[in-house]
Amino acid sequence: TAPARDRLRIAIQKSGRLADPARSLLAACGLSWRQSRDKLFCFGESLPVDLLLVRDDDIPGLIADGVCDLGVVGLNELDEQAKARRQLGLADAYRPLRGLGFGACRLMIAVPEDWDWQGVQMLQGKRIATSYPAILSAWLQEQGVDAQVVELSGSVEIAPKLGTAEVICDLVSSGATLAANQLKPVEVLLESEAVLAGPAHALDDARAGLMAMLLRRLDGLSKVQD
Ligand code: PRP
Ligand code: ZN
Ligand code: MG
Repeated sequence: TAPARDRLRIAIQKSGRLADPARSLLAACGLSWRQSRDKLFCFGESLPVDLLLVRDDDIPGLIADGVCDLGVVGLNELDEQAKARRQLGLADAYRPLRGLGFGACRLMIAVPEDWDWQGVQMLQGKRIATSYPAILSAWLQEQGVDAQVVELSGSVEIAPKLGTAEVICDLVSSGATLAANQLKPVEVLLESEAVLAGPAHALDDARAGLMAMLLRRLDGLSKVQD
């Protein structure tokens, strides 16, 4: 079992779409940090709550390993890694605690603009490039479609032009990236937004009280906004 800790540690994205809104939201909950020189670890001043700045993809794993207690991450990334764990027969390690109302996007199937979309059966026998292989394969199975999942960690939208896949499955926010690559969105797999993620099992030391307080403050904020 992990040693008891009396400071809470929250992982947020170092840079990218979720980075600034995540920090502002935590600051609005009354947290403040002394900036460390490398800026990857920020020591909490107003409360014993520290920040770790990391790649968003690493956040679920950091919670699973108990390195961090909470994380601000896209539901897409959390769901992908949760499904991947389940497919490996591993126990659930984290869960979304609150939707945060920013970072909205959709995980979608997109096809070349000139396809006349007739429905999911058109994916039969096709190669689909994605960074979300667990969500995609579960969805394909649900749909009764047999297609090949081609895993890419980035620049998925270029795959049809490169000939490594006919179709893609990726996040769509404004739609600009798809349009720039002559692709069009046709099916939604997941509606996503930034969430506060926490461990699947409750903490049992001083961090539990800190976490409860933070959640109360978050809930108070969303009431003010309504
Ligand atoms: C997502 C996605 C697309 C882009 C779509 O990447 O992979 O590339 O955003 O956005 P748009 O519809 O507004 O053009 P993201 O910025 O999350 O970065 P990442 O894939 O490197 O994590
Ligand atoms: Zn990412
Ligand atoms: Mg991308």
